[in-house]
Formats: sequence, C-alpha cells, structure tokens
Amino acid sequence: MSAVNAPALDLPPVQPTETMLQATNLNVYYGESHILRQVDLSVPVGQMVCLIGRNGVGKTTLLKTVLGLLRPRTGAIELAGQPITHLSPDRRARLGIGYVPQGREIIPRLSVKENLLLGLEARPSGRKGNETISDEIFELFPVLKTMLSRRGGDLSGGQQQQLAIARALMGQPRLLVLDEPTEGIQPSIILEIEAAVRRIIEVSKISVLLVEQHLHFVRQADFYYAMQKGGIVSSGSTRELSQSVIQQFLAV
Ligand SMILES: Nc1ncnc2c1ncn2[C@@H]1O[C@H](COP(=O)(O)OP(=O)(O)OP(=O)(O)O)[C@@H](O)[C@H]1O
Ligand SMILES: [Mg+2]
Repeated sequence: MSAVNAPALDLPPVQPTETMLQATNLNVYYGESHILRQVDLSVPVGQMVCLIGRNGVGKTTLLKTVLGLLRPRTGAIELAGQPITHLSPDRRARLGIGYVPQGREIIPRLSVKENLLLGLEARPSGRKGNETISDEIFELFPVLKTMLSRRGGDLSGGQQQQLAIARALMGQPRLLVLDEPTEGIQPSIILEIEAAVRRIIEVSKISVLLVEQHLHFVRQADFYYAMQKGGIVSSGSTRELSQSVIQQFLAV
C-alpha cells in the first residue's frame, strides 16, 4: 500500500506537557464549612511535590479533591493538560491517578496477593483476570513476595503501607498520591518507604504528590507547599526549606 492511500491513524495528538497535575483556585466546602481556600498547586512531570501543614488544615481534603472524592465549589483540575474537574474518581484513576489513602485501607480479610490484584481495577483497560504481579513490585518491596498468601490484616503497619503503595502501582499510575505514608510507622521502615518512592520516580518517571510530616521524607521531595487554614501560605524548592517553615508547618 502506498503512503498516499494509507488510512490516517486515529490517534490523539501527543501533547507535550511539563505539568502532570495543575489545580487552580480550588474552593472546597464540607456543608457550609469553607475548608480549601483559593488553592493553586502544580506537580511537574517526574517530580515529587510534598504538601505540609499541621493537623486539620485541609491536606487530605486537597488530595480527595484531586482524586474526585470531593467536588470543588470553584476551581479547575487538569491532569497532563486534560481537564478532569468533572470526572468521577473511577475515571480519574483510569487516567492515571493512583492513591494511597491515609490509614492505608488494606482489605484485612483478603490475602496480600488479592489486595495487590485489586489495584488492577485502575488500569485504563480495567482488570482482565489473567494479569500477574510484576517483578518490579517485588524488587521495590521484597517483603511482599514472601507474604503473598497472608491475610492483609495480619501484616505489620509498615508492611501494610508497602502493600498499599504496591497496590496503587499495580494500576500503572502517572501520578501517585500518598497521604502520610509514614504515619505510625517505625523509623527503619520509613527509610525503606522513602527509598522505594524515590526509586519509583527514577525508574518509571511518574510524578508524586505526597502529604508528609516526617522531615527526612519531606526533604526527598523536589518542591513543597505549606498549608494553613485551608490556604497555601508558602511554597518553593525543598532545598530552600527554612527552619522557620519547618517549625511552623511540621510537627518536629
Ligand atoms: N467529612 C467531613 N465532614 C466535615 N468536616 C470535615 C470532614 N473531614 C474533614 N473535615 C474537617 O475539614 C478540615 C480539614 O480536614 P483534613 O482531613 O483535610 O485535614 P488534614 O490536614 O488532612 O489533617 P491531618 O493532618 O489530621 O490528617 C478539618 O477541620 C476537619 O475537621
Ligand atoms: Mg489528613
């Protein structure tokens, strides 16, 4: 067939983008309580952004808004240049947002393997039933390989956190959203989780939006946003994270 007669390929144009996530002017309410106030936040492709702030300032609310679990009263959210503000959480997951919720939310009575396979639901093609767990997952979290048939509820807190991150990766996200992954976890495991997240970024070039209180982990991020009373009050490179920002926004 000559090139002239070849049918035009019906593919969407490749849109070069340097921003994975862009949230603009978000205002979010619980009932009449105004929680998020004029929030702007952006996550560059292949970078880690950390959201910091004291208890109850709205960090989880912001993540849930990005995921689509909460609807903003005003504002817009784009993923890789595509508007997603009006899409369901399910559609957003299939477009590439992976979520590791605060408290992990492992299904206790399912096995580790079954918990991992649940993550397949977020793939663009959904779950087909014949997928396997890639070696990459076990290279990141070797402990999971030895525990595939254990019940999720029988794992330690640190192991459950690793399982929750691995489950999110099973969906092959472009943006991984993590809500306080080191909360209540012992220091040696915190370092393992940090190293795994950095390695995920290096190997797969995905972007990460992280809520974190642990200073060592915050410093692994490229950029930070500090939140107070539902608004972003400071942001910048984590290399320039000052003592005053650390004291004001992190519970150290
Ligand atoms: N379902 C809800 N209904 C009403 N108010 C809520 C609800 N969830 C959270 N809030 C309120 O919204 C505010 C922000 O909560 P959010 O969970 O986003 O804070 P956070 O920064 O994640 O806190 P933490 O560090 O404790 O996780 C708080 O004042 C909280 O009491
Ligand atoms: Mg929270």
